[in-house]
Amino acid sequence: MSKKIIIANWKLNPITESEAVRLAKAVDEKDVVICPPFPFLSAVKKVMKKSRLGSQDSFWDGPPSGSGAYTGEVSAPMLKKLGVQYVILGHSERRRHLGETDEMINKKVLAALKSGLEVILCVGEPAEIRKEGSSAAKTFVSHQLSKNLKGASRAVTVAYEPVWAISTSRDPNLKETPEMILEMADLIKSFFAKNPPVSQSKVIYGGSVTSDNIGRIIHYKDIEGALVGGASLRSVEFKKIIKISKNY
Ligand code: PGA
Repeated sequence: MSKKIIIANWKLNPITESEAVRLAKAVDEKDVVICPPFPFLSAVKKVMKKSRLGSQDSFWDGPPSGSGAYTGEVSAPMLKKLGVQYVILGHSERRRHLGETDEMINKKVLAALKSGLEVILCVGEPAEIRKEGSSAAKTFVSHQLSKNLKGASRAVTVAYEPVWAISTSRDPNLKETPEMILEMADLIKSFFAKNPPVSQSKVIYGGSVTSDNIGRIIHYKDIEGALVGGASLRSVEFKKIIKISKNY
């Protein structure tokens, strides 16, 4: 039985280091990756015993220097030196609010891989595309995969996150179903199969994952974990999610 990975995407939360440390201590379990905001990475790292550390972004000016004239950016080599193992790239919120393009995300993916970080690449269609039907959604995600992973040299984790299913950008007229998720997992897996350097990659799911629905999502062999936003900030709820995931 392969282990499922549960990734906590804290986004722009919490507001203080002491809250971040308290939350990390409460959910420090095996097969869990915690992705706090940059300012809390070091403090969270110090209290982790079983979980692993991830960041929510990294810049593309990668190896060998990982430094340069890029005000406000944080590079993959810097993160690696800090003890970060994973990095979330291409989250739909960064694509939407910060104008990240597929080309920018591709550069970030390549730099992160070269620096030795494990990449968690987020892909997923917006509501207007899903409303056109599943074949439009599949075409959209296929394009993201081929552009974002162009030249990738080793396995990554791809998080399928339909934008309309994320708790803070929910579309009330759309509802995710296991069939929809599996259909997309299948498409992502066939992309891996056709691209030997990434053939050992994993597919996980994200979008309003809670203790109520995690079991229904990850009991499928092809869904190898979950990316959890809102629910990862509530320690009791997140611990329930972790506990349930251990059954699969
Ligand atoms: P959510 O967020 O679990 O709150 O829907 C998931 C994400 O945006 O990664």
